[in-house]
Amino acid sequence: MQADPFTGQPSRLCGGRLPAADDCRALQHDHQRRLEALARFRAAAEKVGIGTDPDDDLVLWESDEIALLAGADPLWGELDEAARAFRATFPIISLEEFGFPEEVEDLLGDGSPRLRPISSGVEATAFEAADQSIYKFFMPRDDGRIGGTFEFHRGDEVALHAEASDGSYQAMLEKFDLIMRLGGMPTEVVGVTRREGVLVVKQTLGRRLAEGADTSKVQPADLIVIPSRFLRAHRDHPRLYFVDDRPWLVADLHSKNLVEASDGQLRAIDLLAAPLPADLIAKEPLLADWLERVRHDPRAGVLRAVHDDEL
Ligand SMILES: Nc1ncnc2c1ncn2[C@@H]1O[C@H](COP(=O)(O)OP(=O)(O)OP(=O)(O)O)[C@@H](O)[C@H]1O
Ligand SMILES: [Mg+2]
Repeated sequence: MQADPFTGQPSRLCGGRLPAADDCRALQHDHQRRLEALARFRAAAEKVGIGTDPDDDLVLWESDEIALLAGADPLWGELDEAARAFRATFPIISLEEFGFPEEVEDLLGDGSPRLRPISSGVEATAFEAADQSIYKFFMPRDDGRIGGTFEFHRGDEVALHAEASDGSYQAMLEKFDLIMRLGGMPTEVVGVTRREGVLVVKQTLGRRLAEGADTSKVQPADLIVIPSRFLRAHRDHPRLYFVDDRPWLVADLHSKNLVEASDGQLRAIDLLAAPLPADLIAKEPLLADWLERVRHDPRAGVLRAVHDDEL
């Protein structure tokens, strides 16, 4: 593995070259390990009464903060260990490492001599480095939220309404994991900056599609179309996907969130996703029944097949 030119950490990505299959598997494994470490850390924090929503304080936790308490009490001991294990998967970095000036206010305005700006979106500002690798900087908002997710509520004519809402660090880490599960562009989490809480990821460079190109026929193969009576989303191309048997809404794979990789495949670089709410599903028997069947057979219809002799 080579070293990242900015942080010096080991990196599996470089420019527009797709990493080998075993490197992709290792990347995917890293995403899952990081999410598991965050779940353990979150559970340990909740056990000692530390709030975890929003989760900015958690992900910016200074490991030394509780070293003294850790020895005195098993719950605090577990918190200390969980914090360290999480940090090992999500390093603290600084914007200066990327060539930004100290006390940067505006990444685009202040700029870095080592990064060429390519886009500033709602969630992130993206840059291209000299080796053509893409680096994205996700800025938290003042209330500690970052990126986006979905909020769900029940509707009259449709079972669930999904509305985009402010996200969390966990939701971002889940997004990167999902991008890779769906065969999207290889995405590596670089770390988070101590001062600003900026989440930094590195991604393989792809060729952009014509703006407004119709992507409805080129959605990732594992995504399942959701019958309109079950869900309405205020985003393009809402689809269903199972992550370890849990149903997720995955959406927003429009022309600006897919690129062509060096192998000619269209791959996701960004999406909007959230797990479907188990409590609301439980109130919708038809939806619950469809989810149970479609989990085993992606082509399952809205209604269960009924044998003639049952009619
Ligand atoms: N891997 C990549 N290869 C080529 N271009 C990229 C890549 N990643 C990002 N870009 C460019 O930067 C834009 C923004 O990236 P991305 O969608 O990840 O951020 P975003 O803040 O979520 O943007 P938006 O809010 O517009 O969806 C993309 O639409 C694309 O033009
Ligand atoms: Mg985008």
